[in-house]
Amino acid sequence: MLKRIALTVLAVCTLGTVSVQAQKNESFRPKEVWNDTEGNPINAHGGGVLYHKGKYYWYGEYKVGETVLPPDATWERYRTDVTGVSCYSSKDLLNWKFEGVALKAIKDDPESDIHPSQVLERPKVIYNKKTKKFVMWMHIDSPDYSKAEAGVAIADSPTGPFTYLEGFRPNGSMARDQTLFVDDDGTAYQFASSEENQTMHINRLTDDYTKPDGTMVRRFIGMAREAPAVFKHDGKYYMLSSGCTGWDPNRAELAVADSIMGEWTVLGDPCTGPDAEKTFYGQSTYVIPVQGKKNAFIACFDMWKKKDLQDSRYIWLPMMWDEANGKFSIPWHAEWDLSVFKKK
Ligand code: GAL
Repeated sequence: MLKRIALTVLAVCTLGTVSVQAQKNESFRPKEVWNDTEGNPINAHGGGVLYHKGKYYWYGEYKVGETVLPPDATWERYRTDVTGVSCYSSKDLLNWKFEGVALKAIKDDPESDIHPSQVLERPKVIYNKKTKKFVMWMHIDSPDYSKAEAGVAIADSPTGPFTYLEGFRPNGSMARDQTLFVDDDGTAYQFASSEENQTMHINRLTDDYTKPDGTMVRRFIGMAREAPAVFKHDGKYYMLSSGCTGWDPNRAELAVADSIMGEWTVLGDPCTGPDAEKTFYGQSTYVIPVQGKKNAFIACFDMWKKKDLQDSRYIWLPMMWDEANGKFSIPWHAEWDLSVFKKK
């Protein structure tokens, strides 16, 4: 077992007292247990990353406890109870401090969208410069996934506590896998797998980011794209996404557009290397623009362990920009660090 990754602790003896410090992460090691600064495995699935005032904040599904397949399930909807959305902070994207559960499940109201018995997935947080609020959108659902709604929560601080506002179907349409994107002009958009996950809806949001403003388009019609992750490079918009096979992996796809509402053009699978055709056994969740570096993006995937969702791992890989061909690729690396982006 790799020494650095095993629950390695460094005992420091000072004046008779022993303090225990988790070992620093020096590199990204996709698929391996990734410990936070306290030495506990990072628990932030289906997540997204916000950069705010010199720090990255990673929000994700805080999956704690037993994974079960409900007795009435007609498909593999393995689940854990909703506990909330975790938040971690980092300056270097490698070493993450657990900031707690930023949005907590509402345990005492069985009718709440975020009661433990429900489904809360793919939380994403954006910052609204006008209202100075941190706005979280998430996929909320009933245990059988028939509700298909978006939930919204807000906070005054990136680490929360977030207050849950409401759940709804954006512009009256189903919304399951989802993400948020804020454009350079401050306008925000929600991308959501809609129409029984067959078609992507792009919903423009109100100025305070808490609702759709009524402008929406249907894109990727009948193409069954899930797990959207949107980013902008050199004036163009990109969407990384997965196919639609539940917790099981499938082929990733990258698409590009000159305008966020489209038209969108499918570019194909950007992954290369062993198991690329199965997204290395991962599913996209977010693409992080690396601050202070040109053409530097990290593609974040979840490697779901459907029978033990809490132990699902992360696959973070560099997105490499090929200047000569004007193309992104996501090559497999068992171990890497941010210095890859300096190479030509
Ligand atoms: C996936 C989706 C996950 C989760 C899962 C449930 O397709 O991307 O977020 O909803 O299905 O089976």
